[in-house]
Amino acid sequence: MNAVTELQTRALEQVAAADDLQQLDELRVRYLGKKGEVTAQLKSLGSMDPEQRKSYGQQVNAVRDALNQAINQRRKALEAAALEQKLLSERVDVTLPGRGEHRGGLHPVTMAMERAVGIFTRLGFEVATGPEVEDDHYNFESLNFPPHHPARAMHDTFYFGDGRLLRTHTSPVQIRVMEKSDPPYRIIAPGKVFRSDSDQTHTPMFHQVEGLLVGRNVSMADLKGVLHTFVNAFFERSLEVRFRPSYFPFTEPSAEVDIGWEKGDGSEPGWLEILGCGMVHPNVLHACGVDPEEFTGYAFGMGVERLAMLRYGVTDLRQFFENDLEFLRQFH
Ligand code: DAH
Repeated sequence: MNAVTELQTRALEQVAAADDLQQLDELRVRYLGKKGEVTAQLKSLGSMDPEQRKSYGQQVNAVRDALNQAINQRRKALEAAALEQKLLSERVDVTLPGRGEHRGGLHPVTMAMERAVGIFTRLGFEVATGPEVEDDHYNFESLNFPPHHPARAMHDTFYFGDGRLLRTHTSPVQIRVMEKSDPPYRIIAPGKVFRSDSDQTHTPMFHQVEGLLVGRNVSMADLKGVLHTFVNAFFERSLEVRFRPSYFPFTEPSAEVDIGWEKGDGSEPGWLEILGCGMVHPNVLHACGVDPEEFTGYAFGMGVERLAMLRYGVTDLRQFFENDLEFLRQFH
């Protein structure tokens, strides 16, 4: 009797003192396992006489049950504590600062384009757009490029099998605007254009900003005034501007505009071409149902990459298309 009581007291004390699950399991094996102390007591019942076996058996069974219950309780407590510990150690502190972040920024070509559009919208122009996939009618025909005219060859056009093409300039937007509504018009059309051309200074895709203003008594003097205002605003300084006679099928007269540019290396300022322009050709107005006797207008088109290179001092056009983050981050 005493031995059993002593066994129970000792076992329960040890269970209560077990402070991890492994220790607890060792105790379970030591007392209740196949070769455990309590199990040994139960086995010894077989050799007892029936009277003794009954009361002793009850005693030992009670010890086994009490021990089982104590072990289970202790396991639950230890498991709960372990979980608590784990939750504490794995807690996410949402108030910690982040690991450093890279802020994105606009591409320099986008910046230059938005800058140009911003200046013209402040001058009263509205933004118009057209599709990048065009057809002969919009890209050439109604812009007064006769069939087989050599100016078409200058455009290195990408054609689709069905006769459609990737627009080679933003000028077709002029036609789309004039076809849709009545004059006056005062629009700016920024967008992508495509030419089968690729070298140091040409990429198959680039950007243009087109302008068109048609109304009564519009003259070349108005064109000069607007473009000079634009150039000074875009480069944020007072620049010299020169109009040089040129040729485009859709304008007459036509001009290319140069700006006086200092390279910054002490050399003499030179002239740099930045855009094409002219008075809208009567044939173009006529094709869009606008009476050239009543209305006149001017148009212009400029390359955005060119403007971006000058404004941000980029010397190689291809850098705009390489997606080199070291390069791009300089503009943020
Ligand atoms: N579309 C011409 C080009 O891509 C640029 C241009 C020249 C546009 C004169 C115009 C213009 O609107 O009047 O080369």
